[in-house]
Amino acid sequence: MTKVSPKYLCWYVLLVFCTLVADVYAVSGGDPQSKAPVTARKFMVAAAHPRAAGAGYEVLRRGGNAIDAMVAVQFMLNLVEPQSSGIGGGAFLLFWDDGEKRLYTFDGRETAPFAAGPDHFLAADGEPQPFWEALAGGRSVGVPGTLKLLETVHRRFGSLPWAELVRPAMDLARSGFEISSRLARSIASAQEHELDGFAATRAYFFDTDGTPRQAGTVLKNPDFAATLARIARHGSRPFYEGELARRIVEAIREASNPGLMTRQDLARYTVRLREPVCVPYRVYRVCGMGPPTSGGLTVGQILGMLSHFDMAGLPRIDAVHAYLESAKLAYADRARYMADSDYVAVPVRGLLDSGYLKRRSALIDLSRAMDKGRPGNPPRLPGPNWAIHKQSERAGTSHFVIRDARGNAVSMTTTIETGFGSRLMVGGFLLNNELTDFSFRPRIDGRLVANRVQGGKRPRSSMSPTIVFKNRKPYLLIGSPGGSRIINYVAQSLISILDWRLGPRTALEAGHFVNRNGVTELEQDTAALHYAAPLRERGQDIRAREHNSGAHAILIRDKELLGAADPRREGVVLGD
Ligand code: GLY
Repeated sequence: MTKVSPKYLCWYVLLVFCTLVADVYAVSGGDPQSKAPVTARKFMVAAAHPRAAGAGYEVLRRGGNAIDAMVAVQFMLNLVEPQSSGIGGGAFLLFWDDGEKRLYTFDGRETAPFAAGPDHFLAADGEPQPFWEALAGGRSVGVPGTLKLLETVHRRFGSLPWAELVRPAMDLARSGFEISSRLARSIASAQEHELDGFAATRAYFFDTDGTPRQAGTVLKNPDFAATLARIARHGSRPFYEGELARRIVEAIREASNPGLMTRQDLARYTVRLREPVCVPYRVYRVCGMGPPTSGGLTVGQILGMLSHFDMAGLPRIDAVHAYLESAKLAYADRARYMADSDYVAVPVRGLLDSGYLKRRSALIDLSRAMDKGRPGNPPRLPGPNWAIHKQSERAGTSHFVIRDARGNAVSMTTTIETGFGSRLMVGGFLLNNELTDFSFRPRIDGRLVANRVQGGKRPRSSMSPTIVFKNRKPYLLIGSPGGSRIINYVAQSLISILDWRLGPRTALEAGHFVNRNGVTELEQDTAALHYAAPLRERGQDIRAREHNSGAHAILIRDKELLGAADPRREGVVLGD
């Protein structure tokens, strides 16, 4: 056996230690504005606004369960972060029922009106409408699913009375809440995209002289309070079949750029219980949402490919490069195969097949970047080989996580699509523009697009609510907003926490590496930029970009919950 002198051993240990510290610092960006980690023993909630987290916390403190807290958080987010989510939109929910030891995944995604067809976003000349033109008004609005989701799941799993969970948002809508800095900035920047183009929306978000409302202004929303009072008394019925349904349909059909939604569309809306999409990764099982979101499948593919690399042991630059290459390949498959599986045959099992992902991972060369990933040929391909379709969902979304004292857990991503959705406001809430998540073109190069518009279909999403299991128990709850970058934000955080052993706060603060099968984006003003030169040497096409994630996470240890809120937004973690 070779003898190592104690002096060299000391130097070696010091070197390893410094490298580790430098790595953590470099990946985290050494952000001085770190949000303190929050620990708790019994329950915890992390959401994008202190009022929303507070509403969830109060429910949990009173003995409510994770589903009760979810209802309170979502209604409050609708009020205080109205640009991102609400009952005018859709959501995906992962719910771990600790009593049953079962993971449920619920799909509350919006649907296209039944009268909509593949030419929905084509102008008279057969070309796609420009994005913002398609968005503003009634044409882009999908049949909302969030309220039905809340009600369906609460009826089955909730423990506190529904009306009590609606009340905090209803009371605050009446008394008024302070506009946050982020909401004020969002209002100002959405003005250039017609936020002031619709009377009810203008009256709510702008002063009478047309100035965007400022941070700190106390904003009352009596219309929303009245809507919530109805919902508290009658549940979702007025929304899907009653007076609110009438007003929603009227607003959509009478808007400039009118939509096709009917009252039958609203009345027929159903929440779907889907099969979770799970992949093994190291000692974990990572579970997400299946189609119509591409989130669970694409995150799963990235991890499936990276499981063939020693991400913890590789030099960090190699690991980052491998990550970017796996993302290119996974996004390539996403662009061809992923859409609403109730309408097109999505090869869910084939895309996650271990042999297929091993073959795909063999395409990754650690010394050289591929120009673009090409879609593969997953086994059990059931249908036609669709056209390649890259649609970039926008970042008007929110994610929250909850763990209750009984061990139940919620990971929910919720959206009205672009910030402020379609700009149409009815009953004090905004209607989504989710239909712009469909491909505007039904055919590309003569081939049908899987994610084309079809009546009743759900547009493809990137939302990736995730629960990681260790020893069959929930270990990490995580997700993020961020449009089609969501998949990258979530996958990178998973690698940071599961492979690189970063704490959730450090992982969420880390500068992002993003690749959606094109350029490599390194997050502006973070230490991710330190990787620019070595990645460029390998052939990555580098851009520095601002990134607008808003991840929330709870890590569940034996005797401790460890929560984190993304420093890029205003979220907080609360727990006991
Ligand atoms: N509209 C955002 C998403 O569904 O991914």
